[in-house]
Amino acid sequence: MSISIDKVADALSEEGYIVIPYALDVDVLRGLQQRVGSLSSEQWLSAGVGRNTSYQQNKKIRSDKIFWVSKDDPQESAFLQDMELLRQGLNQSLYMGLFDFESHFATYPKGAYYQKHVDALRGRSNRVLSVILYLNEGWLAEDGGELLMYSDHQQEHREGHQEEPIQRVVPELGTMVVFLSEKFPHEVLESHRQRYSLTGWFRINSSQSGRVDPAS
Ligand code: OGA
Ligand code: MN
Repeated sequence: MSISIDKVADALSEEGYIVIPYALDVDVLRGLQQRVGSLSSEQWLSAGVGRNTSYQQNKKIRSDKIFWVSKDDPQESAFLQDMELLRQGLNQSLYMGLFDFESHFATYPKGAYYQKHVDALRGRSNRVLSVILYLNEGWLAEDGGELLMYSDHQQEHREGHQEEPIQRVVPELGTMVVFLSEKFPHEVLESHRQRYSLTGWFRINSSQSGRVDPAS
């Protein structure tokens, strides 16, 4: 892994998020890129909003497709090993109590987007830290598909008055974003080119999140 875990820890405690270019070793990135490109259209699932019983597909909110990552594939496994190092490092330096990690590839076909959302509702989820890794080479401004991140401070906005993002991220190969899941509303602008990303969440043990985790 080419990222410095101390740097991530510092940024998380100070800003709550970090954008890291060239986050992983090039062989891991190439492996993931190859893997995501080799998935057949039957393997991609329409992404839902909510989980388990509340799972519903809602194409008005998001129109990407997903494929869950597992350690059975060697390329995915290399990524999971890096995330395990990150998990242990952050637990040591920030006492975050990160318990496990779940992740999926996402593909945004031409015209796809994901409207503004938060990954975890305060106190209602055991997802505490979000990770997004991009797998697209040579992304251009005209390709769209940027990730826009907004600040936590929910202000009332007059109609027609758009909130300014605190960060815009171009989904270029190797760029990784790590952020506190409850804190940052974010959206993916319409993509004008097939767009690949890998999104994951570090979770705390459900008994720590103050609610019973429904069986999944
Ligand atoms: C998500 C998400 C952003 C991206 O999957 O929850 O916000 O840039 N993805 O792919
Ligand atoms: Mn999200």
